[in-house]
Amino acid sequence: MTRVAVATAFGGPEVVRIVDEALAQPAAGQVLVEVKAIGVNPIDYKLYSGAFGSDSSTLPLHLGSEASGVVLAVGNSATGPAGPIAAGDEVIVTGAKGAYAEKLLVPADAVLPKPAELDWETAAGLLVVAGTSYDTLEVTHVGEGETVLVHGAAGGVGSIVVQQAKARGARVIGTARAVNHDALRAYGAEPVEYGDGLLERVKALAPGGIDAAIDTVGTDEAVDVSLALVSDTSRIVTIAAFGRAADEGFQSVGGGNPQSAERRKNARLALVASAAAGDFSVPIAKTFPLADAGTAHAELKAEHPRGKFVLIP
Ligand SMILES: NC(=O)c1ccc[n+]([C@@H]2O[C@H](COP(=O)([O-])OP(=O)(O)OC[C@H]3O[C@@H](n4cnc5c(N)ncnc54)[C@H](OP(=O)(O)O)[C@@H]3O)[C@@H](O)[C@H]2O)c1
Repeated sequence: MTRVAVATAFGGPEVVRIVDEALAQPAAGQVLVEVKAIGVNPIDYKLYSGAFGSDSSTLPLHLGSEASGVVLAVGNSATGPAGPIAAGDEVIVTGAKGAYAEKLLVPADAVLPKPAELDWETAAGLLVVAGTSYDTLEVTHVGEGETVLVHGAAGGVGSIVVQQAKARGARVIGTARAVNHDALRAYGAEPVEYGDGLLERVKALAPGGIDAAIDTVGTDEAVDVSLALVSDTSRIVTIAAFGRAADEGFQSVGGGNPQSAERRKNARLALVASAAAGDFSVPIAKTFPLADAGTAHAELKAEHPRGKFVLIP
């Protein structure tokens, strides 16, 4: 048996429940993991919000896609992207279904080695944000000496975009609440408050223009300011405003885009190694017991402290 968090209906975080479920032994190509920490992402609550449909045959909805833990058992031919997997291995699980669990049965392809340099919380919360960030910088070709505008620069994804853009040699202007400005400066970015007058504030900071814009928020303001500043729409990307991207011809990544999925899959081992080498850090804002998954979602939906939320089984 294992305890898992599920959404028993479509709605707000109040629909999240903790239940016990039977657990099979790993079949060929599968790995059973004792979970140590679980990454929390906005998509986890969006999926039961009704925003992506409300087909009741999908209930209860198993939540979460990423975790870290220790391998308890493996089926035959349990070879992951980095090679054979064995009981006792410390691992990162990525792209899993139902990661909000004490124990998790996953395909070996979802299991990567956890470097000793990464603690359980960081390892659990790493790959959604780092993979998404990498994807945005790849499709916009951000490079040395360029000026990039990052909307939501203090967010889970945004804070990695800032660090990875700086590592590419770019100048970064990042939007955030004033309380997060010192943290952005510490990454070498130039903070600016979002809200009325954002376009003028960015123009004042970058009179020579903006080369690329990365939107991790999806507001009309972020999109409008990006379109006003960057004439080449192939150098604007959003991770949230999918409708506007389709209508107005700029880029989006994620959201079921197969090229995005492939790019992230190909990059995941390198991103783990890069995090382990200290090239970028994943700030952890807060941990919650697995039983408080609904509370974590309610807090993540509201104005919340900078960094990732992590659940501990
Ligand atoms: N397409 C994909 O593959 C993909 C992958 C991951 C996430 N996402 C989506 O991307 C979004 C961000 O995810 P996340 O994990 O980074 O969430 P997060 O950690 O909650 O960060 C969101 C950030 O947005 C900022 N923000 C809030 N209101 C804003 C506004 N009006 N204008 C500008 N910034 C504002 C906040 O910064 P302050 O605290 O400074 O206000 C907050 O830190 C979510 O919608 C998520 O579902 C998409």
